[in-house]
Amino acid sequence: MVNVAIVYYSASGTVQAMAERLEQAATAAGAQVRRRHVKEIAPTEAIDANPAWRAHVDATADEPVATPDDLVWADVVLLGSPTRFGNVTSQFQQFVDTLGPLWAEGKLADKVYSAFTATQTAHGGQEETLLSIHTAVMHWGGIVVAPGYTDPLKFADGNPYGVSHVTGPDNDAPLGDAQLDALDHLAQRAISVAEKLAG
Ligand SMILES: Cc1cc2nc3c(=O)[nH]c(=O)nc-3n(C[C@H](O)[C@H](O)[C@H](O)COP(=O)(O)O)c2cc1C
Repeated sequence: MVNVAIVYYSASGTVQAMAERLEQAATAAGAQVRRRHVKEIAPTEAIDANPAWRAHVDATADEPVATPDDLVWADVVLLGSPTRFGNVTSQFQQFVDTLGPLWAEGKLADKVYSAFTATQTAHGGQEETLLSIHTAVMHWGGIVVAPGYTDPLKFADGNPYGVSHVTGPDNDAPLGDAQLDALDHLAQRAISVAEKLAG
């Protein structure tokens, strides 16, 4: 059985919804799944100033937070972050920056990795964020399994680097069929490649 860790940050729930869809798809594909939100490190004043952020923090307060061991456990790691100024969030990066000891021991290598993100605007930096995640994975010796255009459905969501969603002017556009299908495909493809690697 393939172990899948879905490790992500979300402030207002969009990337959380993407992670939940990946969890459903990976479970349906027969994998064991750990879905883990990275720890919130923003000041309380900043969170309180944004009702959607406060609501998400409260709604996820009882969920387990990501630990480095989740990556050691996993055969497949699906990494997600909202886009912030064309890059990952500081919360996501802070988690990545705790992984030095595991990197030094080679314990992040030889696993399958793929990535997902959300932006407010269509050209707001999705590919930059996904490539930033891939860059860290390459330092670890991980195996980047991008979706490419390996299925016709990828011509609907249109992102060969990972899966992405545009939240729109009010930052609340729900995931559409193209994104849901692309998330299912991402999970299924990563698991399929991990099974081939395991022989
Ligand atoms: C400080 C900050 C920077 C952002 N930078 C970008 C950006 O560069 N491009 C973009 O399209 N959206 C940007 N956004 C919008 C977020 O990407 C969007 O709110 C996020 O993807 C929603 O995901 P979440 O609901 O999981 O937090 C930014 C939002 C904040 C708060």
